[in-house]
Amino acid sequence: MSGMDKYRRSIITMVTIVMMVALLTKCIGRQNQEEVKTSDWPEFAGSAACEGCHKDIYAAHIKTAHFLTTKPATETYIKGSFAAGKNKFLFNNGMEVAMEKRNDSFYQVAYLNGIEKKIRRFDIVIGSGTKGQSFLNWKGNRLFQMPITYFTAADQWSNSPGYPGKAAFDRPITSRCMECHTTYAEVISPIGKEPEAFDRNKILYGVDCEKCHGPAALHVEFQTKNPLDTTGKYIVKPEQLSRQQNLDLCALCHGGRLVKTSPSFSFTAGDTLSKYFAIDTSRKNVADIDVHGNQYGLLASSKCFNKSQMTCSSCHNTHENEKGKLEVFSQRCLSCHKQEDGKQCKLFAKLGPVINKDCIDCHMPKQASRSIAVFLQGENIPTPALLRTHFISIYPEETKKVQGKMAKK
Ligand code: HEC
Ligand code: HEC
Ligand code: HEC
Ligand code: HEC
Ligand code: HEC
Ligand code: HEC
Ligand code: HEC
Repeated sequence: MSGMDKYRRSIITMVTIVMMVALLTKCIGRQNQEEVKTSDWPEFAGSAACEGCHKDIYAAHIKTAHFLTTKPATETYIKGSFAAGKNKFLFNNGMEVAMEKRNDSFYQVAYLNGIEKKIRRFDIVIGSGTKGQSFLNWKGNRLFQMPITYFTAADQWSNSPGYPGKAAFDRPITSRCMECHTTYAEVISPIGKEPEAFDRNKILYGVDCEKCHGPAALHVEFQTKNPLDTTGKYIVKPEQLSRQQNLDLCALCHGGRLVKTSPSFSFTAGDTLSKYFAIDTSRKNVADIDVHGNQYGLLASSKCFNKSQMTCSSCHNTHENEKGKLEVFSQRCLSCHKQEDGKQCKLFAKLGPVINKDCIDCHMPKQASRSIAVFLQGENIPTPALLRTHFISIYPEETKKVQGKMAKK
């Protein structure tokens, strides 16, 4: 029996015991009452519970874009400005949306000719803000995306990507959106019914430890009761997964628009993605893969990936925020492209060791996303977000630019 199976079985056993106890108490307590409503809220502990024993990882993790990717909408997390003169976005049809603080809450308020037409509260922030942030509003048990988004590159409010040129407040948030931006969100509407409804009290914000290591309440309980056990039980260990399982763990959210064949949140760490999504295995033209949201598709088209056992962890330590540390990433390239082995860059002979500081700008240049592009105030052409392509290749135009910069140094 594999580690995963054991892990699953113990969870199932635990849940069964809990359910039986619940059933028994109910039966004794109040006969002929309503049936016991079993909850499928998995046994999460939350990352605060990991801090005591995994101090360094915890301290680094809470600074990552993953951890910060969804948060309740408070002053700390909303990046855009509410100051007069900076807090408005005007649509072509004359509608103006202002970002306003009233009492202790933040709102998007739509005005037409100075008259207030609609007001919605910022309830949830989506996006750590490296590219931008979108904002969600609760209406009963349903979540809706608000019309105004914050676009980091321009430090401005803008229309939300994909919106027509008007202030639309009625774009529902799906469980798939939550699956990629939270650790867990419990869907309470029947399967297939849209817009979907969520249990407000059962949302675990951010891409937290348990998204990648599985629900860990049992692990915390076991390790706490058995402080001398140093093996680590009831937890998904990525090092012990196959290459494809490791890739699937990231591809759940970095694998492009997958068509789901099971309800959202069915996949958990260590699973096989193709059991829950219709995976299109036909080879795509690299130019058709957007740089946003499909790092897996682009990487899988690269020679590096196909001629080695590379996974995302070959270059990323996901516990750390390593954004912008191009020298650190370049060292990881050099772990496979050693000069001694003759696998070095062809330009090494010409440019020398200066290239070791930055393999990235030449071989993984930033490119414009087609799916994240916003209309800034008064502009008719959308401004795209720029992302690193994961199609590792030779880019002569970029090389010229970088070579110029390197020569100046
Ligand atoms: C009471 C202490 C304790 C707590 C609390 C705890 N762990 Fe652990 N954990 C351990 C010990 C001990 C090990 C085994 C030694 C090691 O690998 O560090 C371990 C191992 C692990 C491993 C496997 C490491 C490997 O070998 O690949 C992961 C992943 C992990 N823990 C995640 C978590 C997460 C996530 C939480 C919080 C939800 C958590 N732990 C809470 C003590 C704890
Ligand atoms: C549950 C979905 C999910 C999973 C699983 C996931 N990611 Fe992410 N990842 C995201 C989201 C969402 C963002 C954007 C966060 C933001 O800026 O708001 C992100 C951002 C990142 C970034 C950019 C960080 C930065 O500083 O801008 C890297 C690198 C990354 N992920 C790598 C990985 C790797 C490697 C794995 C697998 C071990 C993985 N991710 C698994 C959803 C996920
Ligand atoms: C298939 C997974 C997936 C789905 C579904 C998804 N996202 Fe994302 N989103 C990502 C990933 C991965 C990133 C960051 C990396 C990238 O852009 O490639 C991201 C980035 C973002 C960012 C920018 C974050 C930052 O810090 O710059 C925002 C805002 C965002 N998503 C909002 C949404 C909203 C709103 C929805 C639902 C309507 C949604 N996303 C659906 C995976 C997803
Ligand atoms: C985005 C996915 C992701 C998140 C979030 C994440 N981990 Fe990990 N973790 C991994 C991967 C992948 C590895 C294996 C790294 C490798 O193969 O080099 C790992 C390895 C580990 C290990 C064993 C190796 C080591 O570095 O000691 C521990 C312990 C661990 N994680 C704990 C945690 C804790 C605690 C948190 C939250 C505070 C957390 N992880 C959050 C993906 C993640
Ligand atoms: C896990 C090992 C590994 C890592 C890490 C790695 N590569 Fe590679 N890379 C390879 C292998 C293997 C090949 C194929 C070599 C061959 O065909 O002889 C390759 C090929 C290439 C090529 C040639 C591509 C082509 O289409 O001709 C370039 C350029 C390249 N790598 C750059 C990089 C850069 C830049 C990084 C870091 C961002 C990197 N590699 C990280 C293993 C790796
Ligand atoms: C100034 C831009 C630039 C930098 C910096 C750079 N490269 Fe290159 N690299 C190129 C170009 C251009 C080629 C193709 C040269 C040719 O075919 O004559 C190339 C070729 C390669 C190849 C393919 C070699 C082959 O046998 O076909 C590999 C592997 C590679 N680079 C890896 C790296 C690594 C690793 C780094 C960082 C240590 C790096 N490069 C830094 C521009 C660059
Ligand atoms: C060969 C090395 C390498 C591998 C393998 C790799 N990445 Fe990256 N990734 C990078 C580099 C370099 C950056 C740019 C970092 C920066 O600019 O700060 C990056 C950036 C990212 C970003 C942020 C994109 C942006 O521009 O904001 C995401 C998300 C990401 N990687 C996800 C993944 C996922 C998921 C995998 C596995 C499918 C993966 N990466 C595999 C090297 C790699």
